[in-house]
Amino acid sequence: MKKGTVAVIGQGYVGLPLAMGALHAGYDVIGLDVDQERVKRLAAAESFIEDVGSEEIAAALLTGRYHPTSDSSDAAGCEVFVITVPTPLRDGAPDLSYVERAAEDVARNLTAGATVVLESTTYPGTTDQLLLPILEGESGLKAGADFHLGYSPERIDPGNQTWGLANTPKVVSGIDDASVERIQEFYGSFIETIVPVSSVRTAEMTKLLENTFRHVNIALVNEIASVAPELGVDIWEAIDAADSKPFGFMRFAPGPGVGGHCLPIDPSYLLWQVRQTSRSDIQMVSAANEINDHMPDYIVRRVQAGLNDRRLAVNGSRILILGLAYKKNVGDIRESPAVVVARQLLALGADVCAVEPYTDAALMPAGIDRVDLTAEELDRSDVVVLLTDHDAFDYDMIAENSSYVFDTRNRCRGPRVERL
Ligand SMILES: NC(=O)c1ccc[n+]([C@@H]2O[C@H](COP(=O)([O-])OP(=O)(O)OC[C@H]3O[C@@H](n4cnc5c(N)ncnc54)[C@H](O)[C@@H]3O)[C@@H](O)[C@H]2O)c1
Repeated sequence: MKKGTVAVIGQGYVGLPLAMGALHAGYDVIGLDVDQERVKRLAAAESFIEDVGSEEIAAALLTGRYHPTSDSSDAAGCEVFVITVPTPLRDGAPDLSYVERAAEDVARNLTAGATVVLESTTYPGTTDQLLLPILEGESGLKAGADFHLGYSPERIDPGNQTWGLANTPKVVSGIDDASVERIQEFYGSFIETIVPVSSVRTAEMTKLLENTFRHVNIALVNEIASVAPELGVDIWEAIDAADSKPFGFMRFAPGPGVGGHCLPIDPSYLLWQVRQTSRSDIQMVSAANEINDHMPDYIVRRVQAGLNDRRLAVNGSRILILGLAYKKNVGDIRESPAVVVARQLLALGADVCAVEPYTDAALMPAGIDRVDLTAEELDRSDVVVLLTDHDAFDYDMIAENSSYVFDTRNRCRGPRVERL
């Protein structure tokens, strides 16, 4: 085993910051990714995520200790393997094929004394029932006796300037005491607070609990927001007022739905597994899925009604969407509800443009032109729909130059602004 070497399998939103963290802690890092284009970009010091800049990648390459590669044999004999590959849903069921493939690559390169950690979000039981047998089967080594194994959920929040990899407490677990100790020691070399738990399943559940909590609370506030206008209530003011309570209330904001890689997916991992094992349901998750999934329809209905009040039809109207990313200040449009809203408006015959400064032009959804945020663009649009409230937008300028703004994020003020 090559001491002081780490292989991070998957160089995405989770794996790349982790690779940088381990590098800063003094490890030699193999950044393994099956996406050859991504590896080429990394080797050319070209960043594709907000939290790790191109300069940081360039500095990492200059150390000579960061090696992005698609060749899994480069990871042979590493001391630590961390798996950070996607865990999407396929037809409502967990797709663990990426984890399986990564596990096979790890197993082929595993030597006695090494440590393997899974970070990808998944349901309780994945580490001991799926990962462990693949590692043992392919390597001929025995988990616990020959190598350490554990699970540590990632809590990365892309774009968050306050909480990053180093200062966000990290939950760790292992299949035995020695594994927990070794994994704690590894992460402790670049993360300030480590929170060990007694089993891998607890650690797996921790991640799902955190994201399900958020998902359900967003659904609650979305549902209340959709009935508030009929009750003559400004939901935003009610939330502000409730938030003055110093205990027993936690602020969540309504919006066009939930997106990204976690909230629309993780609670369904939990739901799927509960349905498989106990044939029961988690009603809160089912209800939250339904409410959050319907928010784009609700937004489209409100825009349609607002245009109707102005004697306009969606069909033929010029609609300017502000923000397509799933949350502010990032460019990730995966699973973004803003994209769903834009597509629905397009399908109704609108001429849809979008201002989305953080997304590669090549990744823009078909049929939606990217434009700059200018007074002329605002002025020529029949409605401006604010879906993702990037801090870079000038909200006064938006309110001043638009004939009608539909604001789902409570950022604009003015006589021509209607809020969710
Ligand atoms: N993005 C987030 O905010 C976030 C936060 C917490 C947890 N997570 C979880 O972390 C995991 C990874 O998410 P992500 O956002 O980093 O995904 P990502 O798509 O940004 O990156 C994953 C990378 O893994 C690569 N990959 C896929 N299969 C591979 C294999 N067999 N070997 C090597 N590379 C492989 C892909 O090419 C991709 O570059 C998921 O389970 C996700 O749910 C994500």
